Amino acid sequence: MKMTLEQLWQARYGWPPEHTPAAALATLLAHRSVRAYRREPIAASTVADALAAAQSASTSSHLQAWSVIAVRDRERLQRLAAYAGDQEHVARAPLLLVWLADWSRLRRMGSAAQQPTDGIDYLEAYTLAVIDAALAAQNAAIALEAQGLGIVYIGGLRNQPEAVARELDLPSDCFAVFGMCVGYPADTGAIKPRLPAALVLHEERYQVCTDEASQIAAYDQRMRAFQSYQGRSDRSWSTIVLQRMRDAAALTGRHLLRPALERLGFHLR
Ligand SMILES: Cc1cc2nc3c(=O)[nH]c(=O)nc-3n(C[C@H](O)[C@H](O)[C@H](O)COP(=O)(O)O)c2cc1C
Repeated sequence: MKMTLEQLWQARYGWPPEHTPAAALATLLAHRSVRAYRREPIAASTVADALAAAQSASTSSHLQAWSVIAVRDRERLQRLAAYAGDQEHVARAPLLLVWLADWSRLRRMGSAAQQPTDGIDYLEAYTLAVIDAALAAQNAAIALEAQGLGIVYIGGLRNQPEAVARELDLPSDCFAVFGMCVGYPADTGAIKPRLPAALVLHEERYQVCTDEASQIAAYDQRMRAFQSYQGRSDRSWSTIVLQRMRDAAALTGRHLLRPALERLGFHLR
């Protein structure tokens, strides 16, 4: 059954909105990561629409320093699933979009024009391309979700960035920022609660809420209830996020990202 905007807001925050949310928010508030898909293939026109949405996103200095690879080959999906830490939903997805920070096109343009492209060798350029790829991807995600498809991002591809680059024949100066599984949902999952807006929104300047700790404790309770409703571990959100960022070992290989990026052509000066 379709949820109203007020119900979606309540699911996200645990309390109803104090105003009437804009109708345009319906798709955004209804977001949930989808990891089980029907067998139904994704039409080429659906991918074309997602790409148009992606290319409609803002892009730093109009540089368009991103690309995307649509992967459907089952064996390739299985290999990518393994690189991403054996994520079964990657192997089973009808479609995986791999979003790339891509300076290779501008390098080729520079070489053809016999002009230097040294600006690409800086951390700023890496950051810019990653932001561009993320903005494009999120626009595509919304377009797909608006048409009834489900998505889940796959940051796990950064566990083994060089293996992923080889699998996808990426040129130098090109990096797979994350994947995105796409498919028609085969489950009816729930909307995951977020932190209270008051902890995230600051007015005029950064001010830590005086009751930050108690608001996080209350959120932990909501997340515990959500997790146990989902049949998952009832570890609190705080426990999970602190564990996730505890040390290099908890980064599942991604602590080696910087040298891997350098080998992929990103100098990060
Ligand atoms: C950049 C990024 C990378 C992510 N990587 C993974 C991943 O590798 N595997 C996965 O199952 N979910 C992944 N997720 C999904 C998050 O776990 C999910 O968005 C978060 O738990 C919030 O849940 P929701 O999307 O259902 O609201 C990723 C999300 C983002 C934004």
